[in-house]
Amino acid sequence: MRSYPRTFLLVSHDRHFLNNAVEHILHIDRGKLVLYRGNYDSFEAERRANMTRQTAMAQRQDAARKHLEAFVARFRAKASKASQAQSRLKMLAKMEPISAALEDPTVIFKLPDPEELAPPIITLDGVSVGYQPGKPVLRKLDLRIDMEDRIAFLGANGNGKSTLAKMLAGELAVQGGKLFKAGKLRIGYFAQDQEDVLDPARTPIEHLQDLLPNLPPMQVRARLGGFGLTQSKAETPSGKLSGGERARLLFAMVTHHKPHLLILDEPTNHLDIDTRDALVQALNEYSGAVLLVSHDRHLAEACVDRFWLVADGSVTPFDGTLDDYAKLLADRRKGVKEAAREAAGEPLSKTDRKADRRNAAEARRALAPLRKAVKDAESHHAKLSAERMMLDAQLADPETYTKLSPAKVAELQKRHGELQKRIEDQEEAWMAAEAALEQAQAADAA
Ligand SMILES: Nc1ncnc2c1ncn2[C@@H]1O[C@H](COP(=O)(O)OP(=O)(O)O)[C@@H](O)[C@H]1O
Ligand SMILES: [Mg+2]
Repeated sequence: MRSYPRTFLLVSHDRHFLNNAVEHILHIDRGKLVLYRGNYDSFEAERRANMTRQTAMAQRQDAARKHLEAFVARFRAKASKASQAQSRLKMLAKMEPISAALEDPTVIFKLPDPEELAPPIITLDGVSVGYQPGKPVLRKLDLRIDMEDRIAFLGANGNGKSTLAKMLAGELAVQGGKLFKAGKLRIGYFAQDQEDVLDPARTPIEHLQDLLPNLPPMQVRARLGGFGLTQSKAETPSGKLSGGERARLLFAMVTHHKPHLLILDEPTNHLDIDTRDALVQALNEYSGAVLLVSHDRHLAEACVDRFWLVADGSVTPFDGTLDDYAKLLADRRKGVKEAAREAAGEPLSKTDRKADRRNAAEARRALAPLRKAVKDAESHHAKLSAERMMLDAQLADPETYTKLSPAKVAELQKRHGELQKRIEDQEEAWMAAEAALEQAQAADAA
């Protein structure tokens, strides 16, 4: 696009693409058009700067950022390598889109929290699954899911991610092995083609009332309101809603029975950037388990703490980050190239390479529990921070004090104080975990 010599207009939700392709952003917001010079990131930065000047809420978010920056500074001073502070800086960078989502209250949504179930909620014991008898797509699955799990499926298209999702959702029978589900388990399943369940002629109220025939219409409206679909949108035929509004309706429908487990198969395909950020927040506050298939790296990094690799006809836990996964794919490609070179008569020392790989694999295994501890501490911290940000916003809103009873407001303030304390404790724990990992890595390198 950049080499195209004439003018073009582009509509896209891909932040990365926009940042690299365009020179201006035309912001369409509540019936107004405003032109910003620059790419998406600079648009967002400028818009946020405006907001900071305008609202107390944005100022409070700024304070939260400063708090995290102070943490980074402290962390830098303690760690022997400045590179350790890098991941915190990345987290700071990630906070920005979240604050942008908060600017528009209509995109915020809240997933209903289920009651607790005893773990595990699902176990698979030697399960195989597929579409034709004798030809399983996935075999020998030994997996377990607990209620606090946040797991993303990795793997190339066609490897069986959707097949696994469908089977866990109960829409595809197992061909062999044992699949156990907790007795009271409710599952919300957002299929890859979930859009198809909507009838363009029918309204959000009609769609949700179908699923909840016994719920009074007022409460159906209230539920839609919780997903940002207010009065007029709730009565608009779904075919005339925007992609983001339809997606919010789909989330309201998929979670209508307060699921303990949410299975999301590429849920962001029709979501705009603000709604994607709102989804990140909603998932981080949701108390059930989440299984996610997504090509949106931002989404996966912000709300998932474990990965399952779907490849070669089976599923294995992947200990590592998305960066590690990208490296693994790059290494595999390199492996293929080396093999080609070897075939062309340039032999490489095979034994050396094998030993290298073996050593690297052993080191990765040894470090995995420490890495997981860091990851857990980090995601716990992110969850607490997200909750505090929501509380900040609520406490900054004048309506809170008119709508809620003084007792309820006092309760919110108390919760805010508790959160503050827990976040500080969590930071200490996080720092300790990071230090332990760093020590092990240093010992490993020696
Ligand atoms: N309804 C179906 N009937 C038969 N084969 C299918 C069906 N759906 C998917 N498959 C096959 O199962 C394999 C895994 O597909 P899928 O689970 O959709 O992969 P992914 O979601 O990872 O892209 C593919 O080989 C695909 O062709
Ligand atoms: Mg798929």
